[in-house]
Amino acid sequence: MRNPAPRETILSLFSQTPDGFVSGERISEELGVSRTAVWKHIRNLRQAGYRIEAIPSRGYQLIQSPDVLLPEAIQAGLECKLVGSRVCCLEATDSTNLQACRMGDEGAVDGLVVIADRQSSGKGRLGRQWESPGGVNLYASILLRPPILPFEAPKLTFLSAVAVCRAINLCTGLQATVKWPNDVLLNGAKVAGLLNEMSSETDQVHYVVLGIGVNLNMSAEQFPDDLRYPATSLAMIAGQPVSRLDFTRALLQETDALYQTYLEQGSAPILSAWSELCDLTGKSVQVDCNEVKIEGVMTGLAEDGALLVRTATGKIESVYAGDVRPA
Ligand code: BTN
Repeated sequence: MRNPAPRETILSLFSQTPDGFVSGERISEELGVSRTAVWKHIRNLRQAGYRIEAIPSRGYQLIQSPDVLLPEAIQAGLECKLVGSRVCCLEATDSTNLQACRMGDEGAVDGLVVIADRQSSGKGRLGRQWESPGGVNLYASILLRPPILPFEAPKLTFLSAVAVCRAINLCTGLQATVKWPNDVLLNGAKVAGLLNEMSSETDQVHYVVLGIGVNLNMSAEQFPDDLRYPATSLAMIAGQPVSRLDFTRALLQETDALYQTYLEQGSAPILSAWSELCDLTGKSVQVDCNEVKIEGVMTGLAEDGALLVRTATGKIESVYAGDVRPA
């Protein structure tokens, strides 16, 4: 593991103290630098938007962090085994998924997270575009190198869906639901979308990229008029802005914990956690699979992640691709 940057060390010290105070002496010991150098680091943090007060005889106190996504702020005090082992934050990119794949092809580490403030070609499912304005939302791609066969990889979408729901609950108290295969909904409107991509050969996965787009602080006017589905943001439902930093940290922690469960116990606990968050089970649904439409009652998920629908004839259909909506 690389040595943390001074800024990362200082932010981590702030996050470890209950009252938010850290003495200059402590920082100088941790960094192994003079008190003048500490003062310069604090000045740099202030210039980057951190509100830090200096209180005589108590030390420095972090009052407020800017809501910019920076690796050191995201990683400070993060308790992850793997996810976030490296965090790369970009002001803009075409798509964080494309960027993570490019880095994956060049040998990027397991657990790499790529985040962009905005995307010029955010990728949605089925070649659709993901609306990605700057400064308001989270666009993240997590690169994993799981020891699995390629046919197992699509199940990791359920893992990211559960992680997003848990992070939403931690940051807002709201309970999101999931919709097969890759949507997260609040009050029936889409708040997050997931797009997994993979590089593999027949019997080996090189890497999987979990692409996660969450509408955090987007306003109603920022959504395009021609959206195919009702969409919302956390702020629109919660009635107040959500810290992008807090949400990102919660999401990485939850993803890491679920990924550890997946590595230790396989996909069953993940599919079961997903099913608990799905409120369409037992309800009448319509599934559009290209030209074919299937109508019936959603009975749950198959072991391989397929959607199970019982049609009027009593036959159980397994659906592997399509758009589901309540009938
Ligand atoms: C969908 O519901 O259609 C999936 C949307 C996935 C969007 C995210 S944003 C971060 C990552 N980078 C992309 O280009 N797409 C995913």
